Order: sequence, then C-alpha cells, then structure tokens
Amino acid sequence: MLSVSSNDGKINIYSQEILISREEISQRVEELGRQISTDYQGSELHLVGVLNGAFIFLADLVRQLNIPCQICFLQASSYKEQKVSSGEVTLMHNLDLSGKHVLVVEDIFDSGLTLRSILEDLQVQKPLSIEICALLSKIIPDKLPVKVKYIGFEIEDRFVVGYGLDFAEKYREVPHITCLD
Ligand code: IMP
Ligand code: MG
Repeated sequence: MLSVSSNDGKINIYSQEILISREEISQRVEELGRQISTDYQGSELHLVGVLNGAFIFLADLVRQLNIPCQICFLQASSYKEQKVSSGEVTLMHNLDLSGKHVLVVEDIFDSGLTLRSILEDLQVQKPLSIEICALLSKIIPDKLPVKVKYIGFEIEDRFVVGYGLDFAEKYREVPHITCLD
C-alpha cells in the first residue's frame, strides 16, 4: 500500500473511501462516448480538454467516440493549493475554434466559475457550436447557471481526488475517485 503525506498529515490515499470505482467510471465514460458520437454524427468534433484535471477523462472519452475529432487543450487554474476556489480564473491557450463544433471537456463542475470563464473566452472565437462535458458535477446550492450538456456523475459537496483530480497537484494518478475528507 502506498502511503503519501499531504497537508492534512500522513494519509494512505488507497484506504480512503472510494466514491466512484474505476469500473463505474469506465462504464459511464463508455455511455457518454456513445451519446456524444450520436449527437455529433456527420460532423467533426473539436474537443478542448481543460488541463490539468481533465487529462485522463479526455484520454478515455476520445477512445469511446466513433466520429472524427481533433483534440486540443487549454490550461485553467484557480485553486492554488487550496480546497476552496480563489475566485480568480487564469486561462492559457493558443486555440482557433472559429467555425468548429467544440466540446469543452472538464473534470468537475463545482461553482461554475471556471466553466463560465472558459465559455466567455471561447465564444469570442465564434465556434459553430459549443457545449460542455464534465465528468463530475457537485450538488451545491449556489452554482452559477452554466449549461453543462454532458455530466458523468453528480456528487455531494465533498473534496474529491483521483482520475485526474488533484489536491495541491497530488493524487491525479489514483485510478478511482476518492474523498479526502
Ligand atoms: P469551479 O470553478 O468552482 O467550478 O471549479 C472548477 C475547478 O476546480 C475544477 O476544474 C477543478 O480543477 C477544481 N475543483 C473543484 N472541486 C474540486 C474537488 O473536489 N477536487 C479537486 N479539484 C476540484
Ligand atoms: Mg480543473
């Protein structure tokens, strides 16, 4: 068993409660892939992965698509080693999405601040269409009203890591989704 230290003290990440198992993730990613392939049949889809958290989800999702697609990334950061958003979102990219069908692929829709900033930023480029796919969505009362067309799982308001999601850049490699608290 791997033992790792975090700001919370010494914890064994593999003995924490598993919220979503790797089997459940893989089944849901397959379903999402089927749904997205059906919805975009006959078009080329431009997937924009949100780094760093969405890298594993995007890699698994694209292998479940049966439509032509192009893959690119943007970098978004807001948390700065804390569990609560700093409220400021920094975006970095070099994308040109004008006239493309765009699907933004994100790890988690929490307050909606990050996704709202991404949408505002990318809409300026006048894509033909733009939708969002988030692996997780937290059930919280004061979410921003961002339209997220594809959601993998709705989860309660707890801090989760694994399958790409981190706390202070740690635990992204854990193959399931687990709670830190
Ligand atoms: P939002 O801007 O509040 O919607 O937060 C979105 C971003 O915060 C995500 O892209 C994640 O990087 C990060 N985030 C939010 N909740 C969690 C969590 O429970 N675990 C890990 N990262 C999270
Ligand atoms: Mg993220």
